[in-house]
Amino acid sequence: MSIHIQIADEGPIRTVRMNRPDKKNALTAEMYEAMAAAIEDASGDAKIRCVVIAGRNGTFTAGNDLTDFLHAAESGEGLGANTVRFLHALARSRKPLVAAVQGVAVGLGTTMLLHCDYVVCGANARFSTPFVSLGLVPEAASSLLGPALMGHRRAFALLVMGRPFDATAALACGLVNAVVAPVDVDATAMKAARDIAALPAEAVAESRRLMRGSPDEIVALMDKEVGLFKERLRSPEAREAFNAFLSRKR
Ligand code: COA
Repeated sequence: MSIHIQIADEGPIRTVRMNRPDKKNALTAEMYEAMAAAIEDASGDAKIRCVVIAGRNGTFTAGNDLTDFLHAAESGEGLGANTVRFLHALARSRKPLVAAVQGVAVGLGTTMLLHCDYVVCGANARFSTPFVSLGLVPEAASSLLGPALMGHRRAFALLVMGRPFDATAALACGLVNAVVAPVDVDATAMKAARDIAALPAEAVAESRRLMRGSPDEIVALMDKEVGLFKERLRSPEAREAFNAFLSRKR
């Protein structure tokens, strides 16, 4: 288990909190493993009726750890098994997912929100997916879910052009349900989670299944993206971009 993921159950609500303050909550293999396990376990636990994904220290997450990306590029391994497990856990979650976003949500920090049922963000939130400028391709089934949510052109600006969305843009395109003061993000997300948890659990589960379609199809697309991602990770473009970030002078 990762020291950088905190898991807390409060009645029917499980909170999965990313907490790696010195690296803007950038996600490592251990963090993915812990998050995947918490979501998978919640799926099979009748006591848990909703899972909240949150960050800490005014940050949601800076996305995948770029040092890990560089290692994956050099070893030729591609996205790690724990990352893929986390992606599948999102797609297959049988419990509603709520996200509480403060500050930056980069890469998977943004694309994981496409799997959430309710998203609260702070007025200071900034969503970005710099996949293509890193020489990569979109992941987490965002190549399907992004355009389906916001239309092709807005999804293209976000996922391909790497244009960041602020909280207002995220609200306008339906990526988030509510924008609140940063200090109120966690409490507002918890209130939404409590509202969901108070509903009849089986009716919520059935309704959610109807609305979300087949998890197998989403997982199949994720796996296709993972294959392309692996090829892109090995590209000179990607290595150059990771090295440039990790060796930048500030
Ligand atoms: N992987 C590894 N380390 C990361 C990281 C990442 N994705 N994001 C941030 N960090 C590290 C920085 O290297 C820095 O570490 P250091 O203090 O040891 O040098 C620390 O976290 C703080 O980051 P910093 O860049 O100083 O914070 P900032 O507030 O100026 O900027 C970001 C925050 C998120 C905008 C910026 O860090 C960034 O662009 N990160 C890369 C995001 C990214 O490309 N993710 C992959 C998406 S596919």
